[in-house]
Amino acid sequence: MSKALVVYFSVYGTAKKTAEEIARQTGADLMEIEPVVPYDSNRDHYNALAKLAKQQHDTNARPAIKNEIPVRDYDTIFVGYPMWWYTFPMILYTFFDKYDFSGKTIVPFNTHMGSGDGGTYRTIKELEPNANVLAGLPMEMSDAERGNAKAVSQWLQKLGLK
Ligand SMILES: Cc1cc2nc3c(=O)[nH]c(=O)nc-3n(C[C@H](O)[C@H](O)[C@H](O)COP(=O)(O)O)c2cc1C
Repeated sequence: MSKALVVYFSVYGTAKKTAEEIARQTGADLMEIEPVVPYDSNRDHYNALAKLAKQQHDTNARPAIKNEIPVRDYDTIFVGYPMWWYTFPMILYTFFDKYDFSGKTIVPFNTHMGSGDGGTYRTIKELEPNANVLAGLPMEMSDAERGNAKAVSQWLQKLGLK
């Protein structure tokens, strides 16, 4: 099996932490989806971020990605993100619009504060009908912050990826 890639988008750092744990346990490469216009990661400014995210959601925006992600070089790609307004951040649409996942395996994971995956794993299947989308891992924010090695390990074992 070729090397896997873990790619993530994260503002408050919890999806990042989960991504790092997955990369540590699988030996996969790790890359961040970096927006051209950065989001404010200061949690005291949550209301402003919530407003911006809602606006981007309601206008079906496609926030631009700054860096190139070498999706074509990998067969298995873990994709991680937080829940924003009951779905994934709009930059994930940019990501799935931009790259072709035909014939590849996508392994989704996400952080949240109660919404679980919010139907986003199904959305990924709809956006990438020619990819094999495996069962994802929804991770509650506080669990992700406390450390998530065990949950990640059990999930990877169940999928046969470890
Ligand atoms: C703008 C915004 C919208 C959010 N909307 C939801 C939501 O609809 N459902 C939910 O469970 N959590 C929601 N959350 C909580 C985040 O999913 C949670 O804080 C997550 O751990 C953040 O991931 P990150 O640390 O990788 O940025 C929202 C957070 C933000 C900032």
